[in-house]
Amino acid sequence: MPLGTILITIAMMLRRLLFQLRQLTLGLSFLLLAGLFPRPAEAADRTAQTVWDGVFAPAQAERGQSAYAWSCSRCHGEDLTGSGNVLRGAKFMDHWREDNLKSFFTAIKTTMPRNAPRSLGDGEYIDIVAYLLQANAFPPGAEELTMDALEQTRIVGKEGPKPVPDFALIAVVGCLTQASADTWMLRNTSDPVRTRNPRESTETELADAAAKRAGPNTFRLLDIRNFPSHAHAGRWVEAKGLLIRAPGDDRINLTWLQTLAESCKQAQ
Ligand code: HEC
Repeated sequence: MPLGTILITIAMMLRRLLFQLRQLTLGLSFLLLAGLFPRPAEAADRTAQTVWDGVFAPAQAERGQSAYAWSCSRCHGEDLTGSGNVLRGAKFMDHWREDNLKSFFTAIKTTMPRNAPRSLGDGEYIDIVAYLLQANAFPPGAEELTMDALEQTRIVGKEGPKPVPDFALIAVVGCLTQASADTWMLRNTSDPVRTRNPRESTETELADAAAKRAGPNTFRLLDIRNFPSHAHAGRWVEAKGLLIRAPGDDRINLTWLQTLAESCKQAQ
């Protein structure tokens, strides 16, 4: 091989090496920066895993089964089909999908056993949630379900996340506009998300609402007469209510309306 070719080859190898080194340092400094300045979206993401990710331990589900037998089976039955068959299968999924385990936990704790709500400890309620997940054929994992993990764990069907079902109670943000004397619309609206609180938003809910951006949806608002002080065209609002879908005429039957900003432009 002539000397010239050898020199050129060496030069090219050196250049590639330098390039790779630069990539490496870039990558490293990026990682460092990312670590120093976590994205705000990450902090706000409270639904990082789903019930398919092995979120409870088998021993926990077993404890839950005992607690269930003691406190719940009287009404809901040994096989969970009593009291309207709400604890597993289609009714369970329809009622809880696209929500998180915190909502499920809170509903049980604050309303069950029907004759004595809040009568068990949080640990027992969590164990029962683990048992009910097992009964709905979600896979167990190595770690037990904890209070901290509830809100980060999303309930979704086998096929993954889907649009919120019809007639679910939902929350959205959007731009309030008046189409005619008694027709009010919500335009540039975010995708509907499930809520269990039909009325005034908590601080956490308001923070979530403030972080939401405009979206592609339009809804007709029913029963806006109940919220006269908020019915001002051009305002950026949070709306809660029952979702009623129809081709070209999606509606929200309002249970709550709250101004987030005096002007839609300001908020978008
Ligand atoms: C005294 C009877 C009784 C007992 C005890 C009882 N439940 Fe219920 N539960 C009911 C009835 C009735 C309903 C309503 C069914 C319906 O909506 O059709 C219900 C509904 C539920 C729901 C559905 C709530 C919703 O909003 O979808 C869950 C979950 C539930 N019970 C869990 C439990 C658990 C867990 C226990 C034990 C800690 C328990 N229940 C104990 C009677 C009872």
